[in-house]
Parts: sequence; C-alpha cells; structure tokens
Amino acid sequence: MERIAILGAQWGDEGKGKVVDFLAADMDVVARYSGGPNAGHTVIINGKKYILHLIPSGILHRNTMCVMGNGMVVDPAALIEEMKELQEAGVYIGENLIISESAHVIMPYHKKLDALNERIRGKRQIGTTLRGIGPAYADKASRIGIRMGELLDPEILKEKLAFNLKIKNAIIEHFFGEEGYSFDDLYSQALEWAEKLKGFVDNTVSYMKRALKDGKSILYEGAQGTMLDIDHGTYPYVTSSNPTIGGIMTGLGVPKDSVERIVGVVKAYTTRVGGGPFPTEETGNLGDLLREKGGEYGATTGRPRRCGWLDLVGLKFATWVNGLTHIAITKLDVLDGFEKIKVCIAYEIDGEITEEFPTDYVKFCKARPIYKELPGWKTPVKGKNKREELPKEALSYVEFIAEQLGVDIMLVSTGADRKDTVMFI
Ligand code: GDP
Ligand code: IMO
Ligand code: MG
Repeated sequence: MERIAILGAQWGDEGKGKVVDFLAADMDVVARYSGGPNAGHTVIINGKKYILHLIPSGILHRNTMCVMGNGMVVDPAALIEEMKELQEAGVYIGENLIISESAHVIMPYHKKLDALNERIRGKRQIGTTLRGIGPAYADKASRIGIRMGELLDPEILKEKLAFNLKIKNAIIEHFFGEEGYSFDDLYSQALEWAEKLKGFVDNTVSYMKRALKDGKSILYEGAQGTMLDIDHGTYPYVTSSNPTIGGIMTGLGVPKDSVERIVGVVKAYTTRVGGGPFPTEETGNLGDLLREKGGEYGATTGRPRRCGWLDLVGLKFATWVNGLTHIAITKLDVLDGFEKIKVCIAYEIDGEITEEFPTDYVKFCKARPIYKELPGWKTPVKGKNKREELPKEALSYVEFIAEQLGVDIMLVSTGADRKDTVMFI
C-alpha cells in the first residue's frame, strides 16, 4: 500500500509523465489534481511515444484506475480528441477513467480570452499555452464557471452558458472588437460533448475515499511545477493553479495523511517555457546545446524551451514548500559528455549573497547565480538501468543534489524510454 505524490520541482517538463508511468505499473490508482491541457506529459514505451495532456499518465497500464480531480480544468473538445488518439494507438479507455463532476469546463471563449489577454499584455506576455487555463480558473474563482456535472444537465447548462456568454461576448466584442459566440452553436456543441463524456463523469471525492479506505495504492500526478504555482511560483509568470502539495488535498478532496512519500521530479538541469525570470538561464551556445541534446521543445505547444544549469536555491525552496521526502532525477544522460557541470548554490541580489529563494518578484528578477563546478563523466549514462553502471562522477552529482536538499533519491532517469530508469530504493 503506497501513496506517492509526484510533483514538478522546477518550471514544469521535468519528466513527470515518464516517472509516473514507470511507477504506475505497481499502482491501483493514478490521480491528477490540478491544471488542464496546458500539461504535456510524455511517455515512451519501446520507442512508441504517447503525450498525455488531460488524462493521467497511468492510462497506459490496463489495470490502473485514472482519476481527473475537481482541481482540474477540462477542455471537453481536447479531452475527446485525446481519448480518440489514445484509443487509435490501442490504449484502452473505459471504466478505468473517472472525471470529477466538480472539475471546471474550459469553454472556447476561455481559449479566445487567453489569446486576447496575452495580446494586450504586449511585452509583459506570460507566454501561456493558450489553452484557456487562466480564464477558466478566473471564472472558477469568480463563481461563474461551469462544472463538468453541470455540462451534463441541459437546463442548468443553458442558463449558465447564457449568463456567461452575456459577459464574455460583451468583453470580446466591445473591449477587444472581435467576433463573439453564438449561444445556439455553443450550446449544441456542449450538448454533444456531454453526450460523449457523460459515462466518465462522477463523484471522484467518493471514489478516492473508497480507494483510500480499501487500502489501494495511489499515485498523485502533478502537472506543471513548483515555480509555476500561482501562490509560490514566480508570479505573474505562473499558471493559475497549485501544482504544489496542497493542490492534492484541495484538488482531490483527500486528507493530508493520504500522501506518504512526496517525490519531487528534478531535471538534471533547468528549463522554462514562456516568459518570466530564470536566474540560471544560458542564452548562448550552451543553452542551445542543452536544448538540442535534451530535445527541449514543448510537448504541448512545440515551443523551444529556455535552458540553463541546475538551481539549488529554487530546489531547496521546492523541497520546503512541498515537504519533499524524495527526488526523481531525470535527463541525467543529457549531461553526458560535459567536462564540467555547474550548479547554482546561492544568489547574489543587490550585492548580498543569499540561499533563500526570494518570494518578491522584483528581487527575484535581480538574482544572479553563484555557481559551484562539479566534474562531468566520460562514460555515458544513457540507457543505463543499474546503479552500479553509473560512472562515479554521475553518482556523485546526483548524491550531491540529494544531500543538499536533505532528501533521498527514489530513481534516476537515463533516457526517455520507460526502461531507461535506475531505481535507488
Ligand atoms: P513532464 O511535463 O514533466 O511530463 O515532461 P515532458 O514530457 O513535457 O518533457 C520531458 C521530456 O524529456 C520528454 O520529451 C520526455 O520524453 C523526455 N525525457 C524524460 N526523461 C528523460 C530522460 O531521462 N532522458 C532523456 N533524454 N529524455 C527524457
Ligand atoms: P507540464 O505539466 C511547462 C507555463 C506556460 C506559461 C505559464 C502559464 O507539462 O509540466 P498557462 O497556459 O498554464 O496559463 O501558462 O505556465 N506552463 C508550463 N510550462 N510545463 C507545463 O506543464 C506547463 N503548463 C503551463 O508556458 O509560461
Ligand atoms: Mg510537459
């Protein structure tokens, strides 16, 4: 009986999908608790690639139940498409997927507003995924959002959609000068989505309660990462939900004791996609090299990811706010062949040295990295799956990270494929 949380410790894309899929083989349930189709979780099994956006990465194991919690925002059109693509690839989707009736629906106007909001931000663009995430969570907080359960009730849907369209069309047409939405078109489209999804929508709080009481093993799958958290990330360059640990409790309705091990997924270097400060970013040749070696292009939007060295100041912060007990270090193979590897151990801000992660955005923008250099390794780690096969410098590198954070290493990933994984515990 295991209850493990898998969370992003950096700016997302740490390799959570790979880690979740690897561990899900022994799990009864995989539950997503936050975010929506902004996530892109890649799983590669014997060379075959799957990219999950809304559906938990446990879906590739036939006997694992997948739960989409109330903390998520669901785009029905994107979900139906994702289901179709997975089914065409031979993945079974049926009673193994359950969607919270309290999860919020991303409507087409949310996506449009996401793009229009970005447009007026000018050079302060967040660089969102344009999946309608911010506007959908804004409606949730404003208490006007439409929930999955309401999508299935034609009368309530009609009333709520009409109310929402009055507001959205006024903004889209009068403020932005763009074409609004026809109620009839959207309503009939929403009814079609409801017809396709109704078999999956249920009370996931009850489901999780039963699973926990029955002693099922559960894996909580985080989306995005700690630095993208709306409260703890580099606001305003963040997403609109809580990828950090508290998101599990609110996003699934489970008590705190329902998580035992808390695993932060840590890429062996750092990436970020979209705008916002990034102290260890390498904008020159080194950044390009990491991007090419690591295949650092967005799994959802295809955008090139910004790349740089590992940042221990940020990771210590992530360890604290999430209460990490373990880390899973991914993409170690991307550092194969480097003579020296740099790790940021402190920031210099206005002439002062600090190991404390600034929660003030203006201060964070001024942070300059202070590096420690560690030796690289000559024998590649790529594809290795035994601890004793790792060269001693590579082992020292991951042990240094774990020691600095005061956590245990759960696993090290040495390639994108499921099999390229070294278990440490
Ligand atoms: P997620 O959003 O955290 O699930 O991560 P993404 O799937 O967006 O990005 C991680 C990328 O790195 C994907 O292309 C994975 O296939 C790939 N990946 C994961 N682990 C490894 C690894 O250990 N080595 C290499 N080379 N690639 C990896
Ligand atoms: P996974 O789960 C990396 C980033 C976007 C943008 C900011 C806000 O694959 O790790 P949003 O569309 O959420 O309003 O965008 O957050 N972002 C991610 N970056 N990985 C993700 O998810 C992300 N989800 C959102 O690039 O900077
Ligand atoms: Mg991703």
